[in-house]
Amino acid sequence: MSVSNRSHLQVRVWRGDAQRGAFEAFEVPQQSSQTILDVVTWIQRYADSSLSYRFACRVGMCGSCAMMVNGIPRWTCRTHVDKVQTDGLTIEPLRNLPVIKDLACDMTEFFDKWRRAQGEFEGGQTRDQPVAAIQPESSQRRAANAAIECINCAICYAACDVVSGQQEYLGPAALNRAWSLQNDERDTRFVDRLNAVSSTGGCLSCHSQQGCATYCPNELNPTASIAGLKRMAVAGYIRRHD
Ligand code: FES
Repeated sequence: MSVSNRSHLQVRVWRGDAQRGAFEAFEVPQQSSQTILDVVTWIQRYADSSLSYRFACRVGMCGSCAMMVNGIPRWTCRTHVDKVQTDGLTIEPLRNLPVIKDLACDMTEFFDKWRRAQGEFEGGQTRDQPVAAIQPESSQRRAANAAIECINCAICYAACDVVSGQQEYLGPAALNRAWSLQNDERDTRFVDRLNAVSSTGGCLSCHSQQGCATYCPNELNPTASIAGLKRMAVAGYIRRHD
């Protein structure tokens, strides 16, 4: 019988934290159009209610459901079992982040790095001034828009080998966000942000391995964004030393 005709999925799920834990095996009824998140939810509802994991929207908007599935970081609410299963499923918490319990990671360092990369927009106009007139077809706006649809799922962060080897590296999501803001004509923090992303652990640490672009569920290309920041950093250095 082929794998797709079996009535039950063989699923291994990580239980415990990063220091102590083990895989636990479950048999989950197979259904049509079943997602990985459906599988995890079935286990929590019908096999072990103590299983910890995260999700919110179930439609690919919130970014909270990402996990490692057979070794690859994926948004589990939009990943169908049929697309990834060959001989059973192995589901683990996201790589490169501390594990709180089971499939739930601590996202603190991920969002701290957003702040270190100055990922907040800061405009310069008051509510009494006219709305800024931005040309949607300008090259700057197109660059900002190309990087803007990040949902903070941390899949790129889990896919990045530089993050694995260099604790202070800001990572693809934070740098992608910085690139989007560096191209937003309304933002006022260009110089401070450029200094932030050019310092230790910033864009120059990227090895352009493209794991982030390969696995981003929204098909963003953080590697290209980081390359843009590298060009900005070098141009800034030349200007200062000219
Ligand atoms: Fe929101 Fe998956 S639950 S993106």
